[in-house]
Amino acid sequence: MQSRLEESLLVDKNQFEREKESARNQNHDSKYSYEEAIHWLMGKGIPETQIRTGSIPEQNILRLVDSFGSEGKREVKLLHVGNFVGISLSSLVYGLKKNGLHVQVVTIDPDIPHRGVERPNKIAQHLMEHYQLNENVLWLHGYSLHKSLSNDGRNYSGDYNPEIHFENEFAPSHQLAALARMIPEQFDLILLDGNHNASYLNQEMGYCLQLLKQDGWLALDDVDENWPAIKSVYTNHDSSKWKEVYADGRMGILQKIF
Ligand SMILES: C[S@@+](CC[C@H](N)C(=O)[O-])C[C@H]1O[C@@H](n2cnc3c(N)ncnc32)[C@H](O)[C@@H]1O
Repeated sequence: MQSRLEESLLVDKNQFEREKESARNQNHDSKYSYEEAIHWLMGKGIPETQIRTGSIPEQNILRLVDSFGSEGKREVKLLHVGNFVGISLSSLVYGLKKNGLHVQVVTIDPDIPHRGVERPNKIAQHLMEHYQLNENVLWLHGYSLHKSLSNDGRNYSGDYNPEIHFENEFAPSHQLAALARMIPEQFDLILLDGNHNASYLNQEMGYCLQLLKQDGWLALDDVDENWPAIKSVYTNHDSSKWKEVYADGRMGILQKIF
């Protein structure tokens, strides 16, 4: 039989072990990696398949970070359009910072349901805060241009028809035009991964010319066979304004040349 003292020492020891384990997990959790971020999001109840299929893969983000890093810049002003739950945003910001760059960010997202996630941008904000990547990030809530059908007009999650819900979705519009008037030619790098309609993307690219510094980079996602219209926007870029940097089969990078 254990004495009262032994029992209470055992309770204290168990408590101590639990606290140590929880501290270990917290430390583990707050160290950023692409895979850790996905697990953190899964812990919030977001299905892994929606996260992975709805986000830019790690290898393409790493190539962008490395290529941009080799330009020899010390700081980067990044404009990130289309956040979903924050995977490309967090991995890009983390990678650029890890390469020693001072990073300042403006993000644009309407925070309307996407791939079954009710408030994806709120989750993205929480993710960035959790991994201490939220310093110098300005969050613009809205559409880059005009209001448009959510979820690329598709029923990704099987229970959300964008046409039926269109009326009830609300976010301010024309964020790029407002930015271009207020802070033209300020950005070193812009990533466009919001609306996937080709003519919408073309209009966004027009604003990017106003927003980018000379020699600034524009990164487009989904420059592949799954999105032929986006691929054709990239391939048929106006070569008096843009120079191709690289296309890796998923992302296409252009540089503003005037
Ligand atoms: C493909 S997901 C972005 C994925 C994210 N870039 C990643 O890789 O982690 C598209 C996101 O853009 C948002 N979006 C759609 N139209 C937009 C627009 N016109 N302006 C800004 N964001 C938009 C969607 O609501 C969704 O959150």
